[in-house]
Amino acid sequence: MNWFSKKLKGAASAPDPIVRSAIGGMHGKAEGSAELPFFKVLATDQLHRGRGSEADKARAQLREAFTPSQPVSRISMFAGREAVLTRLIRAIEDQQLHVVVYGERGIGKTSLLRILTRLADEAKYIVCYTSCGENSNFSDMFRSIAGAIPMLFHSDYAPTQSEIESGGTLADLLPAGEVTPHQISDLFSKLSSTRVLVILDEFDRSPSGAFRRMIAELVKNLSDRSTRVQMVIAGVAGNLAELVEHIPSVRRNILGLQIPNMTAAEVGELIGRGSESCGLRYDDDAIELITRISCGLPYIASLLGQHAGIGAVDRGSTQVLRSDVTNALKLVIDETRQRLSDRSLRAAKRLQVAGKYAELLKLADVALHHAGIVDLVGSSTELGEALRIGLEAQLIEPVGEEVGERFRFVEEGVPVYLWMQSIEGAVNPGYQQRSPSGA
Ligand SMILES: Nc1ncnc2c1ncn2[C@@H]1O[C@H](COP(=O)(O)OP(=O)(O)O)[C@@H](O)[C@H]1O
Ligand SMILES: [Mg+2]
Repeated sequence: MNWFSKKLKGAASAPDPIVRSAIGGMHGKAEGSAELPFFKVLATDQLHRGRGSEADKARAQLREAFTPSQPVSRISMFAGREAVLTRLIRAIEDQQLHVVVYGERGIGKTSLLRILTRLADEAKYIVCYTSCGENSNFSDMFRSIAGAIPMLFHSDYAPTQSEIESGGTLADLLPAGEVTPHQISDLFSKLSSTRVLVILDEFDRSPSGAFRRMIAELVKNLSDRSTRVQMVIAGVAGNLAELVEHIPSVRRNILGLQIPNMTAAEVGELIGRGSESCGLRYDDDAIELITRISCGLPYIASLLGQHAGIGAVDRGSTQVLRSDVTNALKLVIDETRQRLSDRSLRAAKRLQVAGKYAELLKLADVALHHAGIVDLVGSSTELGEALRIGLEAQLIEPVGEEVGERFRFVEEGVPVYLWMQSIEGAVNPGYQQRSPSGA
């Protein structure tokens, strides 16, 4: 008998203390824990029998209705984005372009790609979605992508019935060892009777260098040969060249698509869908405030929607009020601040003390509406002065190759934090302007 089965057997007759307390936790209060808080929702997402009230149920539903830390993949929870989705589909279907999707973290890139995956899948595309990371390796990635394409679609290879039945794929035709972009595009150029969409998300997370260069080379090769494979590359960047810096020569085959901030109507729809799903009612002025704070960032809207909903449930109400949103805002500001570096917070505080806070807010506002970028070209002299102040405080840094033209915040969470803090000041009656460091 091994250790595990011994434990189980022991538990059935005379439970040892560890097993017994686990059993106790399932059926009522754990022994000796009369005063301790307890889990109300099982890991299986069901309420503990006899424990959950209606409010607990609502709380569990809220977690499903607003998922700020996960992309949306259900069509029923996906709000707005009609224009950008239409553009994306047109580029893929009519123009047969490769697409580079870029924008700030939290703007909704992954959610958009999840929905695109579903729609392409419905249209019988073979969709290969991959999230890039530190260890992304070209060979492994494309061997696995080729492994998702049945041999059936290879134009000059007539697989025998048994090969089709045994699930042969294009990966079987690749040589052993490392494969090159050239070999992959050769293989992909033989595809017929289907179309393949290769989606590489979080491209900014792959360390630059070999991997990025190989992807760029593959895109070049694929567009030279007009294959039935199209790439959609997504990541955090201020523009197309910043994300895929090695492929300027084939720009005519590539569409750079910046994901815009959501409109007020789209944020309203996001809250509306969440509200429908969890059964809470969000007052119009609560939605209006969420819209104003979120600045069109779905991540912030979703976070506020969730916190405000929990606030209402905690009050024993099913109606979410504007005051629930102002309370949620405090929580979200505190959470955001904890993720920022002391260096940024102190730099912002120094500017506030020096009476330069309005300039900093101006920079944050511009960055939040332009994929994180503050562009000096064509901007006002006020913005130029604000930039000078931001650079001097080392909160801002130059970006890109055009010297002295484009800038961004050194730390990406800073603009949204500054923005939310300024709104908190404006909406809370009797509010004392907090310093950027929260003091
Ligand atoms: N169209 C949308 N409808 C509803 N919620 C959305 C939408 N787009 C994004 N979100 C919400 O915003 C959060 C951030 O979106 P995500 O797609 O992960 O952004 P990104 O990939 O750009 O960082 C998600 O957790 C999701 O809850
Ligand atoms: Mg993402």
